[in-house]
Amino acid sequence: MQILNKIGFFSKPSKKKISEFLRNSTLHPGKLFLHKLVLGIETSCDDTAAAVVDETGNVLGEAIHSQTEVHLKTGGIIPPVAQQLHRENIQRIVQEALSASRVSPSELSAIATTIKPGLALSLGVGLSFSLQLVDQLKKPFIPIHHMEAHALTIRLTNKVEFPFLVLLISGGHCLLSLVQGVSDFLLLGKSLDIAPGDMLDKVARRLSLIKHPECSTMSGGKAIEHLAKQGNKLHLEIKPPMQHVKNCDFSFSGFQTITDRIITQKEKEEGIEKGQILSSAADMAAAVQHAVACHIAKRTHRAILFCKQRGLLPQTDAVLVVSGGVASNLYIRKVLEIVTNATECTLLCPPPRLCTDNGIMVAWNGIERLRAGLGILHDTEGIRYEPKCPLGIDISKEVGKAAIKVPHLNMTI
Ligand code: KG4
Ligand code: ZN
Repeated sequence: MQILNKIGFFSKPSKKKISEFLRNSTLHPGKLFLHKLVLGIETSCDDTAAAVVDETGNVLGEAIHSQTEVHLKTGGIIPPVAQQLHRENIQRIVQEALSASRVSPSELSAIATTIKPGLALSLGVGLSFSLQLVDQLKKPFIPIHHMEAHALTIRLTNKVEFPFLVLLISGGHCLLSLVQGVSDFLLLGKSLDIAPGDMLDKVARRLSLIKHPECSTMSGGKAIEHLAKQGNKLHLEIKPPMQHVKNCDFSFSGFQTITDRIITQKEKEEGIEKGQILSSAADMAAAVQHAVACHIAKRTHRAILFCKQRGLLPQTDAVLVVSGGVASNLYIRKVLEIVTNATECTLLCPPPRLCTDNGIMVAWNGIERLRAGLGILHDTEGIRYEPKCPLGIDISKEVGKAAIKVPHLNMTI
């Protein structure tokens, strides 16, 4: 905070400001860190986050500034607004994470920053700040893939060995991948259109849940989960898509179209205007949540069977990791548990604060890469952010060719 007051907000960090920032950073003479220490910086979407993590997985300091409230008001993320908010907050957030960790910048082993994939304008803020810091400190730079960081987070909280299966479900991502090593991924399937969180956010907006007294401060997905508890999923029928497509890809845009049609119909029946809350909103939330959970579960079930069939996962005690903002949905988790019980797998989820975007996962990914000696840059010449970037080798066509039939499971919760 002291630094923030001295420097004030800035648009683009100048060299002078970075030097000042470093001079002012707290030094703790006499304190000796035996482990490697990584500062992680995340700005790929709408969270400005930073953390310092050591080699053993201790989180020494962290800070985050969430833009959710601002974007909730505008009904979605406006990239230039997100960029401006990152610019206004990045220095303070990095400073807070470092101060909390009681690590001086000179003690860091490396700086790790998300450079792909994400919103171009947001990624740019984190990258340019990091490159100046790296230049001044003469530290190695570790570029981070956002999804890789999400996928590896579980190894910080649990003792999980490679290989394991990961399902990443959030507002911006939806993929199923086999994690064979720190940067060794096989992509089994992904969403062909929008991500599940994005769809839930749109359905919540169409239902005007922001006006609901119990949901006004919640993200769309959380509001749907909350209301669903009061509703009856059997009052409306929403069929999951792609039931006869035997691959591990997902689709969520159809849910939006169907719910939009049902909501319009219900508005007519209840004699209310668009923008008012339906009396059947809770039933709608319950039905859409159930259908989404079943869709996600079926694709994941197929991925488990495929990996076992090909000897990519052990027959028993394989691990399924579920992460991303939507993974905090307990109903979806319960449905996935039915799948993992049936396939003798273990379902693991990072704690909610590590499921959503954060700096810890980026710092930890830096530690994993440092330990494995992968992608540590001593020269950052020519480094660019990449708004679009696939994760690992795409084998989704092979998964589709295998056309595995998934046995029916009773998804009653
Ligand atoms: O991982 P995240 O914080 O950001 C990215 O999208 O990267 O995920 C945010 C998404 C939002 O779409 C939000 O509606 C959804 O996660 N979400 C949920 C729940 N909490 C957040 N979806 C379903 N159930 C929840 N409890
Ligand atoms: Zn994310």
